[in-house]
Amino acid sequence: MSGVSEEAGFSTRAVHAARVPAVTEEPASVPIYQTATWRFDSSEAYAEVLAFERHGHSYGRGYGNPTVEAFESVMAALERTEAAYGFSSGMSAIHAVCTTLAGAGDRIVASRELYGGTYGLFSQVLPRYGIGVDEVDPHDLEEVRRSLEGAATFYVETIANPLCTVADIEALALICREEGVPSVIDSTFASPWLCTPADLGFDFVVHSVTKYISGHSDVIAGVVCCTGADRHRLRSTAIETGGAMQPFDAWLSVRGVQTLEVRMERQCASAMALAAFLESQPHVTRVHYPGLTSHPHHSLAARLFRPGAFGGMLAFELGGGTEAAGRWCEALELAWMGASLGGTHTLVTHPASTTHRQVEPALRADRGLADGLIRLSTGLENIEDLLEDFGRAFKLTAV
Ligand SMILES: Cc1ncc(COP(=O)(O)O)c(C=O)c1O
Repeated sequence: MSGVSEEAGFSTRAVHAARVPAVTEEPASVPIYQTATWRFDSSEAYAEVLAFERHGHSYGRGYGNPTVEAFESVMAALERTEAAYGFSSGMSAIHAVCTTLAGAGDRIVASRELYGGTYGLFSQVLPRYGIGVDEVDPHDLEEVRRSLEGAATFYVETIANPLCTVADIEALALICREEGVPSVIDSTFASPWLCTPADLGFDFVVHSVTKYISGHSDVIAGVVCCTGADRHRLRSTAIETGGAMQPFDAWLSVRGVQTLEVRMERQCASAMALAAFLESQPHVTRVHYPGLTSHPHHSLAARLFRPGAFGGMLAFELGGGTEAAGRWCEALELAWMGASLGGTHTLVTHPASTTHRQVEPALRADRGLADGLIRLSTGLENIEDLLEDFGRAFKLTAV
């Protein structure tokens, strides 16, 4: 550390006198390195660190930060990949992985069952840069195989937002391997506790860290888990475009992910109980939860996911369309109506007007996104209280 003389002016001492003490004991909480830049004594070392020819830290826009690296290492360990790279949001992670793998004139093959924001990126943004996106039915393996010829990448979600459909991702990864096409999976809804897609053969596992990983609705962040070589490629994209993860978000995420298992255990159990309750309600026309034996992908999910667990997300349909869905959500007292998922609060949302508003109405109908559909993210509240809240909402709205 640079010294500062006792004679130096007040502000000079205020800026330079703080010392980071040498610490030998390992702290239980990963320290937060909330800094944008670092000091070098030699211009050679500075240039080499900036060029990644020597290990070190130089600048906070994606060149590396110890707190972010701590988060990346825990994510790689949980997703069972060689490496991981943090982003400033799930969307910046998705954008970076797509633009790293595809450029002008390339084609991405994507599942047609995706989060609305990803659909917006694929339908409105990437085509403006000459990247075409072809949608496929992820449940039709032959269609996927045919469409992969000459594709730059294949993109799918582990549990699709919002209908909680589950494709045979093991078979999809194998097809991609056979066709030599890099595979990307958004595993936000599943979290690595439920499923580790890299073990099934996926090359890139993406998360909106905003959701289950950080787990407390206080972070916007993303991550891509992949090989070390692919991490370098993603890092180059992030450095040139911005959008790398920031230290405080990494610190909150390192802290949050430590309780992922206990949160997921509670959230999966509550989702199962709520799905069964909703299925028994006369005005609920359909419940979409892979844990229910009535779900078309139940046995697939049982094979692919952790035994006995099916996730904390579900969706259900009310016969009365948008109006009934809105009234029911407004009648809740405990569960909140709001954006996001995977946090401690139970959240409901109406996909047609919120998460999937980017999808044109005719296409929404074609994709099974009914106007009366409500998406539910189970939180950590006690199940008795949630059941009471839901029961009260049905009584009040008589839907
Ligand atoms: C499945 C899925 N992927 C990606 C995202 C985008 O994540 P973020 O909001 O962190 O950019 C979301 C957001 O809701 C999502 O649900």
